[in-house]
Amino acid sequence: MIYLFKLRKNILIALVFCVPVIQASTREDKAPLIFIENQTSFMLSCIDSAILKPASWDKYANATKHKLVTPRSIEDNGLLRLVPSSDWCSGFFPGNLWYISELTGDKKWEKLADKFTLKIEPEKTNAATHDMGFKILCSFGNGYRINQNENYKNIIVQSAYTLTKRFNPKTGLILSWDHSRDKWVNPVIIDNMMNLELLFFAFRHTNDSMFYKIAVSHADVTMKNHFRKDYSCYHVVDYNPETGEVLKKTTHQGLNDSSSWSRGQGWALYGYVLMYRETKDMKYLKFAENIASFILNHKNLPADKIPYFDFDAVAGKSTPRDASAGALIASALYEFSTYSTSKANYYRTMADIMIQSLEKSYLSGYKSNKGFLLGHSTGSYPSNSEVDVPLVYADYYYLEALVRSKMLNEKGKIEFNTK
Ligand code: GLY
Repeated sequence: MIYLFKLRKNILIALVFCVPVIQASTREDKAPLIFIENQTSFMLSCIDSAILKPASWDKYANATKHKLVTPRSIEDNGLLRLVPSSDWCSGFFPGNLWYISELTGDKKWEKLADKFTLKIEPEKTNAATHDMGFKILCSFGNGYRINQNENYKNIIVQSAYTLTKRFNPKTGLILSWDHSRDKWVNPVIIDNMMNLELLFFAFRHTNDSMFYKIAVSHADVTMKNHFRKDYSCYHVVDYNPETGEVLKKTTHQGLNDSSSWSRGQGWALYGYVLMYRETKDMKYLKFAENIASFILNHKNLPADKIPYFDFDAVAGKSTPRDASAGALIASALYEFSTYSTSKANYYRTMADIMIQSLEKSYLSGYKSNKGFLLGHSTGSYPSNSEVDVPLVYADYYYLEALVRSKMLNEKGKIEFNTK
């Protein structure tokens, strides 16, 4: 509310004195909070309608007899794509609601966030996926940071135990996918770095060092095998589960096996920044600096700093962007700017530029895109799936970046789940 009030006051003063008052304000004052609230209210009405009349893609949900709970994207036919809690994207919308509650200070968003968060609880025992961190930390994790609800904490810790069932001591890694056994034996994807945060949460709350050791092992083996000399990374590395030998290095969502899929580079940056946050081991900080350097100095990073879907895609107007990669990288850079490196100010400035670009050219029109905040993300270009569409995780990392920017402006630091 303070922000809405500030925003209204700025607009009023600008109207009265016809001077660019908004230019003098801090970055987060310019964030379109009124749009975010109105557009999300519109999305809530779209969710209600879509649950009553699901889109065609939801055959999947019917087949698995799972209830549709949260939005992921838009179908080719324009309908809202809802997913069951088992989908890797199920936790992002509850996370969006927690972030909006923080940005606005309005308790009504906390109630909604709680309602949508609880829909993800069945996942706490689902060991068939490595996406536990995405699902549980974005929903319950953000909620716990705000409300310290014991029930939330217990669900997060149980989810972490479930995730550890996918750890293989012979590879030193958490197995990513059970599907596509015709392509991979034991695939590990760079996205999996994002799930390590869940293990650190469980370590802090149980004192069980198993969680810490698994997270460090996964990060270290990934560091060794996923990266090239220029600190770009492969998407999928396949392993022999008995010996830990690398079988092949490929892609699933990037341009080709040897290309640098943009969101993957973002997951890598975010992952090693969080490894430094949790361990304070300088090797992760230095590694993250090199990843950031690959991203920010790449000749194919467009002037607005929002990447094409792959850094090796031919640059051009018709090449799809990935706003989700831009938002994710911006959020990681805000955190990176709080650590002691010679580039701290540069990282914050680059994050500001990315968020300004998203707000200038990637926001949906009000009541368009079924209430998603951002357009122009790309899920999987090679499968022609979710190309140049809104994706709920683009909105999530955009809102996270706004919250981080607000915390930096107000408190000079970012507050994480550290207890
Ligand atoms: N974790 C799946 C993706 O980034 O598309």
